[in-house]
Parts: sequence; structure tokens; C-alpha cells
Amino acid sequence: MSLLSATELSVHFGGIKAVQEVSFSVEEGEVFSIVGPNGAGKTTIFNLVSRIYDATHGSITFAGQDITRIATHKVAELGIARTFQNTELFERETVLNNLLIGCHIHRKTSWMEEIFFLPSVQRQELSFRKAVEDVIDLLDLQSYRDQVIGNLPYGVRKMVEIARALCLKPKLLLLDEPSSGLNPEETDDLSFWLEDINQDLGITVIMVEHDMNLVSQASHRVMALADGKLITIDNPQAVQSHPEVLRAYLGD
Ligand SMILES: Nc1ncnc2c1ncn2[C@@H]1O[C@H](COP(=O)(O)OP(=O)(O)OP(=O)(O)O)[C@@H](O)[C@H]1O
Ligand SMILES: [Mg+2]
Repeated sequence: MSLLSATELSVHFGGIKAVQEVSFSVEEGEVFSIVGPNGAGKTTIFNLVSRIYDATHGSITFAGQDITRIATHKVAELGIARTFQNTELFERETVLNNLLIGCHIHRKTSWMEEIFFLPSVQRQELSFRKAVEDVIDLLDLQSYRDQVIGNLPYGVRKMVEIARALCLKPKLLLLDEPSSGLNPEETDDLSFWLEDINQDLGITVIMVEHDMNLVSQASHRVMALADGKLITIDNPQAVQSHPEVLRAYLGD
């Protein structure tokens, strides 16, 4: 059974058909990339999966459950975490606090328990801190943990956003252009982190990405889109040499 399946997914904004009848499945354990020129519908697919947008037509299944119309807050609870094309962090908070906020979604205690800071709340707080420290270690963020986001270089912020998503202990991680704004060295590092996230943590990854080297290195399969439509789903080499993919990028 696939971890995520989209069937004939479409979304229209007035006259704009941002995504048109796109079907794809992502297997558990896969790194699946989505490529395509600007405006192809890549981010829109993430917004459909994370329930920021309502599909006009079609369906999405995650781990056997139809999630096409579930409430937005349920998405993270089910185990889907994401990053955004432009990082969305709390600028005035430290790295540590941003990551602790990321854990919030897993809070299982009631407000009554929290007011009295009962043992259950204390245990939960400890387990959040442990999860956060594990992710800080994993992504080598120790030297930044007490720094305010607004003072950090862009490359570090991008990693903090990935770290925050990982604090949710997701089954599926959606990364929207993780390498944009990174220098070549940071992009190389990202490729190693992705391998760790996928292989050591066993997290399935869907990545929207323009850097074809990173896509080739990191992905098992690639889906190419243009103008909201599916061109092909194949291995990275085959997608890169697909005539329609080349035409979409280069024009006729
Ligand atoms: N909320 C919205 N309202 C109207 N149009 C939208 C909305 N969201 C996306 N679109 C349109 O849908 C199309 C696909 O946009 P999308 O952001 O998915 O592209 P993308 O493939 O992520 O491009 P990029 O590589 O530039 O990030 C574009 O024409 C965009 O203008
Ligand atoms: Mg986009």
C-alpha cells in the first residue's frame, strides 16, 4: 500500500487551473521529488496535501485514510509535516523555542492538567525537550540553539525549518525548495541530511526542488509537472532527458 496517493487531483482558482487531474503515489521509504517550471503547480500540490487548499476534484489518501477533506490541524497529527518555500519561523524566538513550538501539536494533556503542571505535563515537557535535543543533535544545530532566528543566516534558518518539521516525528515530510538560497556547500550538506532523514529516521520525503543535481542525488523517483499537468513520473535520469520535460523548461 502506498503511503500517499493522489487521484485525479485538481484545483481551480477562478479561471486558473493550477493543478489538473494529477495522479501519483508515493511509497513508504521513498524520496519522491516534484519538478517543473515556475507556476507548474508544485507548491499547490503541497497546499492540497496539507489541506491549506480544498481540491476542486479528486482525492488524497494517506496511510489508507482519505484525507481529501479532513481538518487542517489533523494533517500534522496524522504524521505529515512540511516546510515552506519562504521559511515561516518565529523571527524573535530562539531556535530552541521554535522547535518546542513545533512539538506543541503532540500535546496530549488538557489545559486543567497544564494549569497545575501535573506529573503528566512534566513528563510530556521532558519528552518534548528530548525530541528537540535529538533533532538539534541530528542536524548539528547545537551552536545555534539559543540564538534568535532573526539573527541567523538564511541557510541555517532553512535547516531550522526542517528541524521543526522533524520535531513532529512525521511519517511523511514535505519540503518545498529546501535548497533555494543555499550556497553549493550548504546544498551538499542538505543532500547528506536528507539521506539521514530518509534512511536513519525512516521518513518518507516529498521534495519540490529546482536543483537537478540534488534531485538526482537524493530522489528515488521524480514527477515532472508543467502548467498544472503531469508530464511523467520516472527515475531522475529518465525525467531529465524526457523530451516534454525539456520542452517545458526550454520552450520549443
Ligand atoms: N491561492 C491562489 N490563488 C490564485 N492562484 C493561485 C493560488 N495558488 C496558486 N495559484 C496559481 O497556481 C499556479 C501554480 O502555482 P504554484 O505556486 O503551485 O507554482 P509552483 O510550481 O510552486 O511554482 P514556483 O516554482 O514558482 O514556486 C500559478 O499560476 C499560481 O499563480
Ligand atoms: Mg512553489
